[in-house]
Amino acid sequence: LQSKMLIDKDFQIAEVDPRVYGSFIEHLGRAVYGGIYDPGHPTADAQGFRQDAIEAIKALNVPIVRYPGGNFVSGYNWEDGVGPVAERKRRLELAWWTIETNAVGTNEFADWAKLVGTEVMMAVNLGTRGIDAARNLVEYCNHPSGTYWSDLRVSHGYKDPHKFKTWCLGNEMDGPWQIGAMTAHEYGRIANETAKAMKWVDKDIELVACGSSSSGMSTFADWEATVLDLTYDNVDYLSLHQYYNNNKDNTYDFLATSLDLDQFIDSVASICDFVQAKKRSKKKLMLSLDEWNVWNSIGTSRMEERWQIAPPEFEDVYTHEDALAVGCYLITILKHADRVKMACLAQLINTIAPIMTENNGAIWLQTTYYPFLHASNFGRGTVLRSITNSPKYDSKEFTDVPYLEAISVHDEENGTITIFAVNRHLDESMELNVDLRSFGETTFVEHIVLESNDIKATNTKQNPHNVLPHNGGHTTVDQGKVQAVLNKASWNVIRLK
Ligand code: AHR
Repeated sequence: LQSKMLIDKDFQIAEVDPRVYGSFIEHLGRAVYGGIYDPGHPTADAQGFRQDAIEAIKALNVPIVRYPGGNFVSGYNWEDGVGPVAERKRRLELAWWTIETNAVGTNEFADWAKLVGTEVMMAVNLGTRGIDAARNLVEYCNHPSGTYWSDLRVSHGYKDPHKFKTWCLGNEMDGPWQIGAMTAHEYGRIANETAKAMKWVDKDIELVACGSSSSGMSTFADWEATVLDLTYDNVDYLSLHQYYNNNKDNTYDFLATSLDLDQFIDSVASICDFVQAKKRSKKKLMLSLDEWNVWNSIGTSRMEERWQIAPPEFEDVYTHEDALAVGCYLITILKHADRVKMACLAQLINTIAPIMTENNGAIWLQTTYYPFLHASNFGRGTVLRSITNSPKYDSKEFTDVPYLEAISVHDEENGTITIFAVNRHLDESMELNVDLRSFGETTFVEHIVLESNDIKATNTKQNPHNVLPHNGGHTTVDQGKVQAVLNKASWNVIRLK
């Protein structure tokens, strides 16, 4: 296969907002309990946080983590999770039908986020609660002191406000599975009024309104238009959620799902622009893809075994093809750097996650950890509109799916160019010829490859190093021309300087 790419430093899409490398931790399954928090674990600190998990997360360089849900947030009383741990109430948790011990709550999560070096993207409950609980939570978290809720935080041992900047106005309120699901009109009204009150408490916060739970929702598009009509002036981002799976076991169709993500992002941006035009507004709304991933176990919840504490849920074992799909989604997100300002890989640990742990035991990294690691660490700077040309195939949903999925990022400060590329072809390697045009003298730094002869290969506790990246990719650079070999079914990171 032969493919081409043209990169010019003046063809800029936008600067990457680091928050596109965000992630998500929900009180779901063993994400919190057994994942980040495991007081009996040999590496646990005095607060019970696993240091081995912190190290694996720190390496990912995640700038923001969404918390505490997810569906969980729609039944959550945040007051249950603050104050002396011994006095915290156990609750029936109705999103996932478990028992929530509340051993970890807002303050502990803020402490954990500091240890990891990440910001918190907080979500408020608009399912069972509303304006009052939301404005009190902002006051508790962000107001310095001298009022009931801020002084309560101080009395809980947190003198300094957390200053959480980004807040989600509920979660997936269009979904019938959501506690307190709403019509677009109902949600738009409550979201707008809650937004006003929250911003009156703290004028520096940014708010994310719920978009559709996926592009497949029957209310998709109308939902966005109605919600934005009612909230436009008081919110800063609109959310998108999207998961894919290969449950039909067709790898070519599966790897083409990033074209669906691309279309979804384009459509939501268009709806935002429609409302902007309708309102004659100067404000352009940005997008928060605050849940995305491969989720093969979707719909297989163990909820029927009710009222367990932190049971394993959705512990997908990711394959090499899942890692390629994640690579394609990351490239797609970068292609939309002008609109997508935040994105959260859902989730971060144990529950549909790149990092797995055993309660009180081992930790290992899934295949999907690696494309995220590379994109987050090397995909900083300005995304360049990269013009590509490659042979194509037809999938069930799309015609003309390019075998090559690629994008480039220019970090002007460090003088580096990084090309991220997936070869979707399962049997043939691809030659990629890159014309660097305006870059002048460029040298080769490294070519990292994630590949496997078995598309279904996984990393497990028993075999944690089965699929690992190596930097033996074949690339040559000569007078502004790059020639690279993208092995069959591979994720590639070509770094130039
Ligand atoms: O990330 C898992 C779940 O997926 C979240 O709780 C929900 O928002 C979405 O449906």
